[in-house]
Amino acid sequence: GTVILAFSGGLDTSICVPLLKEQYGFDTVITVAVDVGQPEKDMQMATEKGELIADKHYTIDIKERFVTEQLFPSIKANGSYEGYPMGTALARPLIAEEIAKIARAEGATTVSHGCTGKGNDQLRFDFVFRKEGLDIIAPMREMNLTREWEMDYAEKHGIPVPVAKDKPYSVDENCWSRSIEGGQLEDPAFHPPEDIYAWTVSASAAPDEPRELVLGFENGVPVSLDGERLGGYALIRKLNEIAGACGVGRNDMIEDRILGLKAREIYEHPAATVLLKAHADLERLVLTRHELAFKAIVDDKWSELGYMGLIDEPLFQALSAFIDKTQERVTGTVDLILFKGSVTVAGRSAKEAIYSDDLVSFESTTIDQNDAVGFSAYYGFQARLVSQIKK
Ligand code: ARG
Ligand code: SIN
Repeated sequence: GTVILAFSGGLDTSICVPLLKEQYGFDTVITVAVDVGQPEKDMQMATEKGELIADKHYTIDIKERFVTEQLFPSIKANGSYEGYPMGTALARPLIAEEIAKIARAEGATTVSHGCTGKGNDQLRFDFVFRKEGLDIIAPMREMNLTREWEMDYAEKHGIPVPVAKDKPYSVDENCWSRSIEGGQLEDPAFHPPEDIYAWTVSASAAPDEPRELVLGFENGVPVSLDGERLGGYALIRKLNEIAGACGVGRNDMIEDRILGLKAREIYEHPAATVLLKAHADLERLVLTRHELAFKAIVDDKWSELGYMGLIDEPLFQALSAFIDKTQERVTGTVDLILFKGSVTVAGRSAKEAIYSDDLVSFESTTIDQNDAVGFSAYYGFQARLVSQIKK
């Protein structure tokens, strides 16, 4: 039989190729690498490796679709989980859909992935695969494999692996985020060495001069950087470079996985940090107090479902519709300052700002301040009554 393997070229998915033959008896293994904006050299490595070790290999580029269908909605929703911008979670459902498409085209009914039975990715992949009626094989999970065993197995099978024995980190990347976990990082008290980072410099190594930046938004999504109109993917790539060089976007945290396990995770997401900060700030200028308060709840639920990979959940679609409606007025520019790991908003402007300097200014007499006296007379009167009764 034939099995379609979601392939990254990393340790887990590389050893899946011989495992699917030796342990599961498949005669044909087709690898599929999906490009969601990993570094070009990694995509190239995955392609070359897939072509070398599998019976057939596909590389599929969905970068632009990933940006417009997953990252843009995530910006509109201020998408974050336990305080970090989700990346892997948003890519998994689209990757799974591409694998399912290839399975259909190849007439295969079984798909495979290299996720462990301890993480989130297994659930995000399986959700899509089950929906498509595909059988799933996850060797790491089913055989209870450890990364140490995997490295020995790879060596015996002459499979080159990109991880060193003393640094067996598990890295997942797309253009929105890079995650690093495993190895010594699994001790929450262990201080991460500088060489685990690839997209950011440390705050202390960042330039002593601040980097000023202007971001333009239309209907809640970024459309320009320093006045230059850019497509979403190009803008994110460029902003990753700029912000990463200023030490922006590192995060070392303890995360609650879907299963309940706590994990120590390290992230780099320079562009996401800047874009989410700018977007949320612009929203404060154009949305009403009630919209903002309600949307915070909606954003939170949207993010939770996004983290779980349940993007076909009807509630997710309904929340997305609400969010899209609010974003009709989120158009304007945000000025930012990046400096040694920090992002600060320096100014913002929008045509549809719910803001009137004529009304709010301490120098203006447009509002008769005496109007507030009547408002003030009723203000907090229930609480006043309670304290009177107590006396
Ligand atoms: N904890 C993050 C998440 O659940 C990152 C997962 C990284 N995945 C990986 N296969 N290394 O989205
Ligand atoms: C894995 O366990 O396969 C990676 C981490 C995760 O899915 O959360």
